[in-house]
Amino acid sequence: MGQLDGKIGLVTGGTTGIGLAIARRFVAEGATVYLTGRRQPELDAAVETLGERAIGVQSDVSHLDALDELFATVQRGSGRLDVVVANAGVGELARLEEITEEHYRSTFDINVKGTIFTVQKALPLLSDGASVIVLSSTNASMGVPAMTVYSATKAAIRNLARTWAAELAGRGIRVNALSPGPIETPGVRGLAAPAQGERELPDRLADALPLSRIGRPDEVAAAALFLASDQSSFTTGAELFVDGGLVQV
Ligand SMILES: NC(=O)c1ccc[n+]([C@@H]2O[C@H](COP(=O)([O-])OP(=O)(O)OC[C@H]3O[C@@H](n4cnc5c(N)ncnc54)[C@H](OP(=O)(O)O)[C@@H]3O)[C@@H](O)[C@H]2O)c1
Repeated sequence: MGQLDGKIGLVTGGTTGIGLAIARRFVAEGATVYLTGRRQPELDAAVETLGERAIGVQSDVSHLDALDELFATVQRGSGRLDVVVANAGVGELARLEEITEEHYRSTFDINVKGTIFTVQKALPLLSDGASVIVLSSTNASMGVPAMTVYSATKAAIRNLARTWAAELAGRGIRVNALSPGPIETPGVRGLAAPAQGERELPDRLADALPLSRIGRPDEVAAAALFLASDQSSFTTGAELFVDGGLVQV
């Protein structure tokens, strides 16, 4: 018996990193999982590794038409959603003096607008008792140089979980924020090239962590499974940190 047997899930940005690990764990626990991403080759590769209970839909969360098409596909294929993980997100380094309007727009469009309209447009499909998980970050609780815009999007997302938990409680829908610390993913590896003589970013990040290492995507997926399953039936509006103690210790 899997913890998500018979459940229908959606993971946006499910082709690499944390999203792929969550999709993999949900499928292993018995769910059918729709996963999205913008790049078709990465989507095809992810579906190939996950097997027949994974359904790939090429879709950009910042395009509302694409979200409409995504949910029309889910409606036709499964008729409902029991778990939604609004995971798609991007981040680029820019110190305050370097922030451009385009940097602001593209980051907020994917992280905040994408999360809001993913969950809004999922509403008609959400079963009573469904679980919604939004991806915040330890950055929402910290001041990290060169991460003004990214961190602001993640702080906004943390509040989306509180507000939607209040709005959707009447339908028994739980909404929680998952806040990873540094996790070894393509997104983190691509964040900053090491300067000469410097170690790779994951190594440098590990120094700041009480557990002295950065996390693995499957460790975030385990927390997502808790929030997705009935194991967290009395948990809503919460923020679950998977951060090696970064903002706790
Ligand atoms: N890794 C960490 O240390 C960390 C820490 C805290 C929070 N987070 C959050 O966790 C989430 C996943 O991070 P990650 O490190 O796993 O990132 P990642 O390795 O860069 O993967 C991001 C995923 O999102 C997809 N994506 C990006 N923009 C999209 C868009 N507009 N529409 C649909 N899909 C899109 C990507 O595919 P395409 O590029 O093909 O679209 C990919 O599947 C993000 O929200 C991130 O902010 C990560």
